[in-house]
Amino acid sequence: MSYNLLKGKRGIIFGALDENSIAWKTAERVHEEGGTFVLTNAPIAMRMGSIKQLAEKTGSEIIPADATKVEDLENLVEKSMEILGGKIDFVLHSIGMSVNVRKGKHYTDMNYDFTTKGWDVSAVSFHKTMQVLYKKDAMNEWGSIVALSYMAAQRVFPDYNDMADNKAYLESIARSFGYFFGKDKKVRVNTISQSPTPTTAGTGVKGFDGFIAFAEKMSPLGNATALECADYTLTLFSDLTRKVTLQNLFHDGGFSNTGVSQEVMETFVKDQE
Ligand SMILES: NC(=O)c1ccc[n+]([C@@H]2O[C@H](COP(=O)([O-])OP(=O)(O)OC[C@H]3O[C@@H](n4cnc5c(N)ncnc54)[C@H](O)[C@@H]3O)[C@@H](O)[C@H]2O)c1
Repeated sequence: MSYNLLKGKRGIIFGALDENSIAWKTAERVHEEGGTFVLTNAPIAMRMGSIKQLAEKTGSEIIPADATKVEDLENLVEKSMEILGGKIDFVLHSIGMSVNVRKGKHYTDMNYDFTTKGWDVSAVSFHKTMQVLYKKDAMNEWGSIVALSYMAAQRVFPDYNDMADNKAYLESIARSFGYFFGKDKKVRVNTISQSPTPTTAGTGVKGFDGFIAFAEKMSPLGNATALECADYTLTLFSDLTRKVTLQNLFHDGGFSNTGVSQEVMETFVKDQE
């Protein structure tokens, strides 16, 4: 269903790798809601992924950018304003990667070069993106910037490894930069803390199948899908949420406030009769 929520709005969407990506679903939904945007991803992901199909489908242009490189981000923001014909109303940062996770390094046996790289890609890239947008005065007033997070920023999930720390840092950047973006430019900045979702980044986490099944049983409404995350993101891009800022917003079917569910209890309680 379309509500024309984003008619006339222009944006930049980071992180659509394939049709499972949360950013992919968001791009499709933004298009349906009347928004226009530039798609971007790391140059290497362009070769691996199928972003061109998404660009054709949504009538968008693609500008490659490694989100850890400020020059790439400057080029991205300048070209996006030219292509879209004005300042930006919404930005989705949908980027995450841990080299320690990829290489199977345990949290207690980190390679710190890997840690630094993953932190730069997953967290500092959000600061870099906002700093470029801020310095270029590229955002329209009442614009909206969203990054995606996970609850391992607040609670322990042992296999989430250094991504937990990266997400805590990411959420902090949203608050700290969001303050200045709000004060100086009337732009809101939030993170959405999403349920485990079967994407390339998600399934890369050790034990993902158990993880997602457990969350499904714990959440009173079940896990939130990538498409549902896209829908929630649209509300934050729309004019209906203008005073929501500096927040980490849980989008997880109620998981984050559930101590235990009956379904999970049943797997531990022996038959009492
Ligand atoms: N899948 C989940 O379970 C889950 C849950 C909560 C939050 N998230 C977050 O959602 C976001 C999107 O991930 P996803 O699940 O859609 O997976 P995904 O693998 O489809 O997307 C991750 C994206 O990050 C991009 N990326 C990596 N390095 C980059 C760089 N240097 N510059 C630019 N882009 C780069 C990848 O190319 C890819 O498109 C991530 O921040 C992730 O941590 C995912």
